[in-house]
Amino acid sequence: MNAEKELSLNIDHVSKRFLIDGRELNILDDINLEIRQGEFISIVGASGCGKSTLLKMIIGLENVTDGRIVIDGGEVTSSEEVKIGMAFQEARLYPWLTVAENIEFGIPDHVAVADRKALIKKQIGLVGLKGFEKAYPNQLSGGMQQRVSIARALVSDPDILLLDEPFGALDALTRINMQNEILDIWKKAKKTMLLVTHDIDEAIFLSDRIVVFSGRPGQIRQIIPVDSSRPRDRSSAEFVRIRKNIFKEFFAETDLDPEYYI
Ligand SMILES: Nc1ncnc2c1ncn2[C@@H]1O[C@H](COP(=O)(O)OP(=O)(O)OP(=O)(O)O)[C@@H](O)[C@H]1O
Ligand SMILES: [Mg+2]
Repeated sequence: MNAEKELSLNIDHVSKRFLIDGRELNILDDINLEIRQGEFISIVGASGCGKSTLLKMIIGLENVTDGRIVIDGGEVTSSEEVKIGMAFQEARLYPWLTVAENIEFGIPDHVAVADRKALIKKQIGLVGLKGFEKAYPNQLSGGMQQRVSIARALVSDPDILLLDEPFGALDALTRINMQNEILDIWKKAKKTMLLVTHDIDEAIFLSDRIVVFSGRPGQIRQIIPVDSSRPRDRSSAEFVRIRKNIFKEFFAETDLDPEYYI
């Protein structure tokens, strides 16, 4: 089905090197990934393998060293011209602004005042924060702050939403609630979503495809499709099979025997 849809994001032979203390360090090596309009993609991989760097390149906050990133047919050259929203690894809210004001920050300047109010209201409803419009970040739980961050990323109506471990610091129950909310937003808003997560079950629960990265330099080790219909049963045979498969990919880089651990 996805193959018929338009290409949304093309990561084309992308490599990234950083200069650290005069030495060039290979961070990402020859990343190739074509993402279709409305696809939900997750990236999993060890800490430091370049996941956040890849998202920052997609949104134009970091330069691409080699290769190119093409969005809706146009190459990314700056963060302003692309219709992409990003929720960062930390919620990054302004503590002196209310929930509504923080979300408003994501609206482009040219949008009229009356329209801004309607947009904010819609986003607050979508992320389940009705009644908290005037609260300040320090009056919210961590999960609520993350939801404000997601709402701010969504409010500019981006075609593509990048989520960098948005549920990283949440307890298991809140995390599952947030996963359901993201799935709901994805279904309603029909965005292309690219999620970085360390939680393999989360990736299987949400994604059309899971991209497994290897480390140092980061490379795509395998792309695993998840075809079952949503909402997915975390204890189903299919779910367990995919979980084992991903763990095996991780263990392949170590001397450990996966049969012993999985
Ligand atoms: N601005 C920078 N300058 C130099 N090196 C950087 C810069 N940003 C990131 N790096 C390096 O790039 C590598 C990848 O970092 P990145 O944040 O992309 O990893 P990650 O996969 O997101 O890790 P995590 O799962 O811990 O968030 C790290 O070794 C990091 O030190
Ligand atoms: Mg990161």
